[in-house]
Amino acid sequence: MGKKKIAILTGGGDAPGLNAVIYTMVRACQGMMDCELVGYKFGYRGLYNNDFMPLDRNTTSGILHKGGSILYNSNKDNLFDYTVVENGVSVRKDVSDVAIENMKKEGVDVLVVLGGDGTLTSARDFARKGVQVIGVPKTIDNDLTATEATFGFDTAVNIVTDNLGRLHTTAESHHRVLVVEVMGRSAGWICLHAGIAGSADVVLIPEIPYSIQGIVDKVAERESHGKPFTIVAVTEGAVEKEGTAVIGKIVEDSPDSVRFGGVAAQIANKLEPLVRHEVRHCVLGHIQRGGDTSPADRILSARYGVKAAEMIRDGQFGNMVCLRDGHMDFIKLEEVVGGGSMGETSAGGAKTVDPNGEMVRVAKAMGISFADA
Ligand code: F6P
Repeated sequence: MGKKKIAILTGGGDAPGLNAVIYTMVRACQGMMDCELVGYKFGYRGLYNNDFMPLDRNTTSGILHKGGSILYNSNKDNLFDYTVVENGVSVRKDVSDVAIENMKKEGVDVLVVLGGDGTLTSARDFARKGVQVIGVPKTIDNDLTATEATFGFDTAVNIVTDNLGRLHTTAESHHRVLVVEVMGRSAGWICLHAGIAGSADVVLIPEIPYSIQGIVDKVAERESHGKPFTIVAVTEGAVEKEGTAVIGKIVEDSPDSVRFGGVAAQIANKLEPLVRHEVRHCVLGHIQRGGDTSPADRILSARYGVKAAEMIRDGQFGNMVCLRDGHMDFIKLEEVVGGGSMGETSAGGAKTVDPNGEMVRVAKAMGISFADA
């Protein structure tokens, strides 16, 4: 059997750990088979434009710890519904055959796709068209049902936890209430885990609708215990009882156009007239995805990378690597995708926090309020 050509791309938003998967795959594949690796840039857009770079020990040297992706990311380019300009007019069309032709021309045998639901849905569709595809799941939101853990989540939890600690000291000095908005879309995992680790007083997650009065009550309770400051951690997609999520922005050309944002500011405005303290808000935003990848995420990514390499060696295409019962395994792409968005919200449906689950019980037992009374 001749030399295998393996192409990798990183679709959707970036997540710390993408580079660690790329780093590991290069070394694992080269150790397991006679092969050459390339990386398409900006996700599927690179596949359409035939824009790629060689991936070898040299081009991937020193990237294991780095967040982001050396192959860049895009959460806008779905080649099955792609915007092209024809006769000066923008039209949307299926250009997947152009991508397949590009891969044929370059002699690419295997396409490895690192992404969330939207990226993996396209991966499935390429598999249906005969491309030998392997999926690797990623999202900082940790909301994929098809795998027990996604890389990027631990890093985000570390960053939020660290920032909650920083906010404590300034909140205490000024006797303020600080409302901190964290990512996670409609899943409260980052907020809940960091809220527990970072001693938030109130944790607001989309799975448990909150009331402003519930927050007021917690602020008052803390005051009665001699604590004139309060830290409220809120997931960007959290909803007030009988309310709706706060949308920050609609990105028209993105398959998943909704970008959450603004809930912390809204809560701060409603809260301030009802408490004796100044209430300020803070949005951690993309800081949560930036910088170095945590050691736990590097290790998880390395495991994903090696498993993907083994699957290429063993010809197990049309599947996504997953973590099951603590072990690396794989699952059919046909079974994991569904949401169909490049916003990377879910694979196999969103995995959300169980309001009656252990983590919520732990938080409550620690005295954390969900402001849901
Ligand atoms: O899905 C990952 C995530 O970071 C979400 O937590 C967040 O809502 C979204 O991506 C932000 O997307 P963008 O980078 O396009 O603003």
